[in-house]
Amino acid sequence: MARADLLYDLIKYGLVNDNPNFRKVAEAICAEERAKQHGVLANRIEELLRIQNRPLMKDPLQPTIRNSNGEQNLFVEKIPAKKLEQLLLPKSVVESCHDLIEEQSRADLLRSHGLEPRNKILLIGPPGNGKTSLAEAIAEALMLPLFTVKYESIVGAYLGETATRLGKLFDYAKTRQCVLFFDEFETLGKERGDTHETGEIKRVVSSLLLQIDALPSYTIVIAATNHDTLLDRAAWRRFQLRLSLPKPSRRDLEIWFKQFERRVGFDFGLAPSTLAKKLLGKSFAEAEEFALSVYRKYVLRIPNSNVKEITQNELSLYLAGAQSNIDAKTNQEEGAE
Ligand SMILES: Nc1ncnc2c1ncn2[C@@H]1O[C@H](COP(=O)(O)OP(=O)(O)OP(=O)(O)O)[C@@H](O)[C@H]1O
Ligand SMILES: [Mg+2]
Repeated sequence: MARADLLYDLIKYGLVNDNPNFRKVAEAICAEERAKQHGVLANRIEELLRIQNRPLMKDPLQPTIRNSNGEQNLFVEKIPAKKLEQLLLPKSVVESCHDLIEEQSRADLLRSHGLEPRNKILLIGPPGNGKTSLAEAIAEALMLPLFTVKYESIVGAYLGETATRLGKLFDYAKTRQCVLFFDEFETLGKERGDTHETGEIKRVVSSLLLQIDALPSYTIVIAATNHDTLLDRAAWRRFQLRLSLPKPSRRDLEIWFKQFERRVGFDFGLAPSTLAKKLLGKSFAEAEEFALSVYRKYVLRIPNSNVKEITQNELSLYLAGAQSNIDAKTNQEEGAE
């Protein structure tokens, strides 16, 4: 543990955005930890100071690199906030994430034995079950910035433009320890097998896969997809870790509702097991949407809130809405036949 006076100074300078003094104190903490033989922590602080070599309190959403015209940005940078513990994930996924985090944080040891930590992860699963959240949580656990690639800025109208921009993106990612996130990866990955596509997009995808291969192991690349079947084998096998994030089971939903009640300090008036039974088949995002709408109504009606009634009404509305969406979809599909 760092000395109390150093910690105090660190917080003080951080709060007033005094970057030079903040760095000085952080460097002192790093030296102190190293003297105490806490080499791993010292290395991690040193690495943070090296990669975060820019003003503190920078707008976390401010994109960082620009194309040659200086207009469009190739990715959005975010300082991750979501934590792994906040997500309800299959046990095997949690274990794989912990393995990855350990490999990355003890990379020096692995390298001293001629090994590299894994750094290429594919997240697969239906919408709303935590792919984007998990990418952020992995970045948070690794204390790295999250760069989400903006396809609309990458894909250009002119021949060669897209490959050039991808090259720039990867060149930049290699210079910084970061998590490079390709959300909805199939939008790029699937095109290769599509016979209607031009040779250009095939070349782009091939070059993307080669670039992913060539990334140093300290740059983490995470790709997320709803449709793993749309990815061809070549894209699929690039990833050393392939993690499935399925829809929640009834038990998962029950735990989720219990956690929500505990976190917010609120009771739905219906047992979490009942809510889970009614909402089985929904995603975590849908369960969250439902829970928040009940909670909102509850808060607005204080002090006359009847929470059980609100939950029951919201449940009927929600289930009727979901049914009418299904009906509309079925009608649409029948109309199309
Ligand atoms: N496994 C989970 N545990 C807890 N909360 C979750 C989980 N998955 C999703 N959520 C909640 O649902 C919201 C939406 O999830 P997220 O955006 O990560 O899903 P996604 O899989 O990326 O969806 P999409 O395919 O639509 O991009 C999150 O903000 C989170 O609060
Ligand atoms: Mg997502």
